[in-house]
Amino acid sequence: MNRTETIMANPARIPTLSTTEGLSYSLSQVLPNYTGGLFTPNPFWFGLWSRFHPDPAAVKLIGKLRKKYQSDYLYLKLMGKKSLLVLDLAGIRTVLDNSPELFAEPKIKRQGMAYFQPNALTISRGADWRERRTFNEAVLASGQSLHPNGEHFLDLIRQEVKRLQLQPAKALVWDDFALLFQRLTLQIIFGQGTTDTSLTDDLQDLMRTANRGFLLKKSRKFDAFYRRLHDQLKQARNGSLAERCTQVPSTANTEVENQVPHWIFAMADTLAINCARALALIAAHPDREKQLRQEMQAVDLSSPTGINQLNFLEGCVQEAMRLWPTTPMLVRETVQATELGGEQIPAGTQIIILNSFNHRDQDKLSVADKFAPEIWQEQRADYRFNHLSNGKQVCAGKDLALFIAKGVLANLLENHRYKLVRPGLNRDEPLPYRYNHFHLEFMRQYL
Ligand code: HEM
Repeated sequence: MNRTETIMANPARIPTLSTTEGLSYSLSQVLPNYTGGLFTPNPFWFGLWSRFHPDPAAVKLIGKLRKKYQSDYLYLKLMGKKSLLVLDLAGIRTVLDNSPELFAEPKIKRQGMAYFQPNALTISRGADWRERRTFNEAVLASGQSLHPNGEHFLDLIRQEVKRLQLQPAKALVWDDFALLFQRLTLQIIFGQGTTDTSLTDDLQDLMRTANRGFLLKKSRKFDAFYRRLHDQLKQARNGSLAERCTQVPSTANTEVENQVPHWIFAMADTLAINCARALALIAAHPDREKQLRQEMQAVDLSSPTGINQLNFLEGCVQEAMRLWPTTPMLVRETVQATELGGEQIPAGTQIIILNSFNHRDQDKLSVADKFAPEIWQEQRADYRFNHLSNGKQVCAGKDLALFIAKGVLANLLENHRYKLVRPGLNRDEPLPYRYNHFHLEFMRQYL
């Protein structure tokens, strides 16, 4: 008897949601996340859901189901696929510590991402994943709080923030953040002076189509995008990640060019969104802003070491990501039959870690709906919060992303104060479950 047969002979005790409950889950979780953009946010749908369905129903639903079934593990069918919702900390840890060997990427992620980045690390398995992970870690300096090119990156950040501050307009809106991060991304990855945003625009186009997740045939834009990317990488300008790609070991199987789009969208899009939201939270919490300014006064903001010392600011960035995770759920698929929560889980089961619920779980977190940078003062990682993931597939760009975020925000705040115009946030009320960054507007004042 093989392992799968053993499991089928041993029916699981994990409860299964009823058809109506499964439908409620799909309507409140899957639909908003799917239409809101699987790989890049869709301004129309994201705005609509933020306005008309700001999510408490979805968070409440999961809490109610957990109470009803008295279980931190819940089976449900999603588009005919057997899926397991894992709400318990030990279970989350098991999944993330054994990814991607036992818990690998699901088909929809593989198909969608392969449309614009075939062979990317995050959709690789086995020996391919290990080789590509080693390469990504070497280029991005994963696990090192200071990237070897940190000083150069900080110079770029200061140059680009200054450029933004010199604009005559007093208002700072989402498009300003988007452009700031596009220019920074291009220069950090390809080198100083690379500011032609057509490369990032082309990638956005491909990702918008990939959001569909199915019926994806090779795009006419694919080859043109990779030709342009290839040309940029070849120049390997001083101090850039492109230069590091030539300095660390790789083989043909690393597929270097396919690793770079992830860095582009994670920096230009994901990081931009999280920094803009962190600034909104800081602006809406004057007591926290005061604490932050005290921290900033004590360090040299023009040195990478100084930026690294901004722990409270890092807590502010982590909080923006905890409160409004840009990856609302981590999804995996069991590669083989495996044990989870004391039960046997069949091969091919979809595993869901629901960040949008776990991060706001009022039964387990006293600060669930509050801005609480202090919870990050003693730690950089917590398996309850997986906006940057954890375990073996933790975000390979985590340290670099946090460094850039702190560099940008500290420089924005150094001589200016920001008044949040919209979307409003009230520090005396529970923070909303969605925050539409596309509508952001700040008024900027000199200090
Ligand atoms: C605030 C910004 C960022 C957030 C919120 C973020 C979040 C994440 C998350 C949640 C994952 C795991 C996805 C999964 O397993 O399903 C991930 C993986 C990854 N991230 Fe980030 N990321 C950010 C910035 C960056 C940056 C700037 C880079 C590179 C320059 C980067 C590179 C990667 C890579 C290569 C992986 C794949 C790791 C693997 O599969 O082994 N990320 N990121």
